[in-house]
Amino acid sequence: MARTSIDYIPTPKQAMFHATDANEVLFGGAAGGGKSKAIVMDALSRCLRFPETHAYIFRRTYRELEDTIIAEAKASYPSELYNYNGSRHEMKLFNGSYIHFRHCAAVSDMYSYQGAEIHWLYFDELTHFEIEIYDYIKSRLRSKKSLGITPIVRSSSNPGGTGHSWVKAMFVDAAPYMQKVEQRIFSKATNKDKIITTQYIPSLATENPYISDDYIFELEQKPEALRKALLEGNWDAFEGQVFTEWRDDPAHYIDRKNTHVIEPFEVPLTWPRFMSFDHGYSKPFAVCWWAMDREGRLYQYREWYGCTSRPNDGIKITPRQIAEGILAREESERTENLHITRIADPAIFDESRGFSVAVQMEPSMGCKGIYMEKGDNTRLAGKMQVHERLRFGDDGRPMVYVFNTCKETIRTLPALPYDPTKPEDIDTDAEDHLFDSWRYCFMANPLPVIGRRPKPVKVFDPFTQGGFK
Ligand SMILES: Nc1ncnc2c1ncn2[C@@H]1O[C@H](COP(=O)(O)OP(=O)(O)OP(=O)(O)O)[C@@H](O)[C@H]1O
Ligand SMILES: [Mg+2]
Repeated sequence: MARTSIDYIPTPKQAMFHATDANEVLFGGAAGGGKSKAIVMDALSRCLRFPETHAYIFRRTYRELEDTIIAEAKASYPSELYNYNGSRHEMKLFNGSYIHFRHCAAVSDMYSYQGAEIHWLYFDELTHFEIEIYDYIKSRLRSKKSLGITPIVRSSSNPGGTGHSWVKAMFVDAAPYMQKVEQRIFSKATNKDKIITTQYIPSLATENPYISDDYIFELEQKPEALRKALLEGNWDAFEGQVFTEWRDDPAHYIDRKNTHVIEPFEVPLTWPRFMSFDHGYSKPFAVCWWAMDREGRLYQYREWYGCTSRPNDGIKITPRQIAEGILAREESERTENLHITRIADPAIFDESRGFSVAVQMEPSMGCKGIYMEKGDNTRLAGKMQVHERLRFGDDGRPMVYVFNTCKETIRTLPALPYDPTKPEDIDTDAEDHLFDSWRYCFMANPLPVIGRRPKPVKVFDPFTQGGFK
């Protein structure tokens, strides 16, 4: 074949993305940084260097693939290098390598890749995928020794989307930017642990000389939180974020002004206590412990999130084990003889398929257990209660605080995105278990409409008639 030149000069960040030897890399974090271009060029260069290898580039839907990745590939690859098969969505290169453009819109779609042998795996907009899809498709990475290659995974993403919290935990928060980090990964498919290196390489539109100034000007006009996400690659705010009012400001952990996260303090014994519970087995369960002050303000002083070291992956323990774990964490309340009102997901009281989860958590036959009340699962009203409690009053104080020790709540709550099909509701494919646990507690202690203070709280007092004063 005659010599062909490829018209591509990578930006410094794109060059780093191509050169790194980490097993799994996330590129991006801001709009227009040249992420999709880097993905299509990375796939081409590996497939050219290693004949008869297969690159798979995933986007959530074919429509998105057509509009972005396939369009970018067709515009960037010299036409003499490949034949494109439109019905199979793949390019066959002259050296026998293939670039397959693939979609995976739902977890059930991932099994159609069971037989695939993937050498170079790419995800464009990784936060649009659930972690199950990422893990499963990764398990299709394999290569014959004779090819002499080490398969890799390369992804790009802006903040936001169903997978925002797991992608942020796995790449963005795992180490300082650019630094490679070793992570122990458990493969469900092989039932084995292995160590892999991951890396996050941020790229900004301002680092992409090929993008027009008009585009950057557009980004600058967005509301502050969105501008920070799209222009500065800030993962604490993103397009489609539900709780944009969330603030975690360490400078105010002590004075508790304009922050939801605060320094722990000794909770007065007279404040009523609550525990809220969202059940899960293969997905995490979420237990939150609450105290309420005289003004009806709630303080989350403890959490127990049944999640493995992989975000949104349940620890798979039985209801009885969960009940035992809850009791084991309540030693201080027992020592002080405090009453805890327990509110749970109403679904766990369902007896239509045998013993309900709630019954399995109750004391029985010498085993300790707990009794819970049915929570109110009205989704939108519950979400509004969360907004209402998060709202800062004129004095800079919200009606809900979280102790800074509740790390998983602080990680998952601000990361929740809207459901793309039900614009008022949370995306239930995202990591919403602690949020659900919040809703049950808040719906049991609803705040009145804006402008009115809450009803005074009944305080348990064993010396008055009926126990309440
Ligand atoms: N090295 C490069 N050489 C020439 N053009 C480039 C290069 N990198 C990026 N571009 C161009 O810059 C524009 C933005 O790049 P790209 O679409 O890859 O960014 P992105 O980060 O994926 O954006 P988005 O956040 O919108 O998905 C595109 O028109 C692309 O062709
Ligand atoms: Mg892109």
